[in-house]
Amino acid sequence: MSSPVPKAPPVTLIIFGATGDLTRRLLTPALINMTRIGLVGGDFHVLGVGIEPGGDEMLRKHLEDFVPEKGGEGAVKKGAAWKQLRRRIAYMSGDFTQDALYEELAKRIAAARSDNVAFYLATQPSFFGPIVDKLADHGLLAEKPGAFRRVAIEKPFGTDLKSAQALNKRILARADESQFYRIDHFLGKETVQNIMTARFANMMIESLWNSNYIDHVEITAAETVGVGTRGKFYDTTGALRDMVPNHLFQLLAMVAIEPPNSFDAEAIRNEKAKVLKALRHWTPAEAAENGVRGVFTAGALGGQKVAAYTKTPDVAADSSTETFVALKFYVDSWRWAGVPFYLRTGKVMAARDTEIVITFREVPFAQFTNTEIDRKLPPNRLIIQVQPDEGLKMEISIKHPGLAVATAPVSLDFHYADLFDISTMTGYESLLYDLFIGDQTLFQRADGIEAGWAAVQPFLDLWSKGGKPDPYKPGSMGPPSADALLARDGRHWHAVSLPDAPRGVPAIKAVSARKKPR
Ligand code: BG6
Repeated sequence: MSSPVPKAPPVTLIIFGATGDLTRRLLTPALINMTRIGLVGGDFHVLGVGIEPGGDEMLRKHLEDFVPEKGGEGAVKKGAAWKQLRRRIAYMSGDFTQDALYEELAKRIAAARSDNVAFYLATQPSFFGPIVDKLADHGLLAEKPGAFRRVAIEKPFGTDLKSAQALNKRILARADESQFYRIDHFLGKETVQNIMTARFANMMIESLWNSNYIDHVEITAAETVGVGTRGKFYDTTGALRDMVPNHLFQLLAMVAIEPPNSFDAEAIRNEKAKVLKALRHWTPAEAAENGVRGVFTAGALGGQKVAAYTKTPDVAADSSTETFVALKFYVDSWRWAGVPFYLRTGKVMAARDTEIVITFREVPFAQFTNTEIDRKLPPNRLIIQVQPDEGLKMEISIKHPGLAVATAPVSLDFHYADLFDISTMTGYESLLYDLFIGDQTLFQRADGIEAGWAAVQPFLDLWSKGGKPDPYKPGSMGPPSADALLARDGRHWHAVSLPDAPRGVPAIKAVSARKKPR
């Protein structure tokens, strides 16, 4: 049993962009879950802010219509929790760039029972800087003893190193780093948080966690969805900006950090920043060698026709935006010297699968001399299944029963769903809770964000010079050039589980050696 978590302090959550997609799809289900579990109570209030005209009832109805009773993404049982939360939701309409909005906000905050305020910027990124400026101009970020003012900022935080630096500079001129909570929703996922527990609570894992034993690391975030209605955003963003400096680097950092001296937010963020700063910065020629970009063509996936990316609404017909990337990095540190980290992510791929695969080195000496086993003994692998079917697998070799000396690869599997119910959680529950209690562990610090952008900047620079991504078929695992990236190193990508593959142990192929008669 986990220890009970205390209720968050009284707070007003002011959401900019309250009628937008993120608020209804993720924040509201998370707030309902938090109400049900008792993480927030009667002293928690939501004030939505948006450009759409309307009042409290408009927003409540808008959110209510969207949140499903059960089934589907963000599914939560609304019931009593929603009823309690519903009456504590208010709305005000206004223009984020106009002083009038902030004057009204100041009045509402002054009238609220609690002086604790968390501002949540779920808006277009172009509003992040202006909203922080206006909040500061109107004195709304000034903290008083016993009353906090915090700002949660959604991704994307900048579009490259320069813009991320500029945004950090702008907001940090108006409030302290301790008041900013830069969101990366991957850090809200149980399995991502579990990486640190798996490493630092298990001697048998952490003691092998270095270049002496680990051959390489793969991080895959494959999606079956396309770009949908997000063409306008995606075409100026692409797979690299959308997924790598944020989500994939957070996974990489969790895998690669040194043990922090405590689970204190600053201790962990210091270690994470060290890893991101140790990522090797490629020269232009090296970036060309170590990066692949792809774009999906027309085809079919799951029995459905898929139009080519360039035919997506709001995407330029001659777009050279990538919907897939595969990249190789090194973390230049004592622990990780010479261990490649291969990252890949893409849309409209064979399966939805986010996984981290740690492949261990081969055994230094196999006693099965001059036999098949000697040549084919597969390496041990630890697979952290981030989603779906969250869990952890260890691939090892065992003796195949029988008289012949034969080994068989087997997988020791742990599935969260077998022991716990995490299915209704969105991942935003822990992020919002931490925002309310003031724990920045799961949020990105300015230096970490900038280090991430610095490591992908060589690819951004290279690809901005021209050329086109390599085409790949919907339902594939990216273009052939992604396989070639690993093949050059004598390696291949771990095969992801396909949607209808049976769960559990892979087909057992024994590697055998006949015993020699004496
Ligand atoms: C978002 C990206 O940050 O993460 C999306 O903008 C992507 O393009 C999404 O689909 C993936 O998140 P998850 O939690 O669905 O794996």
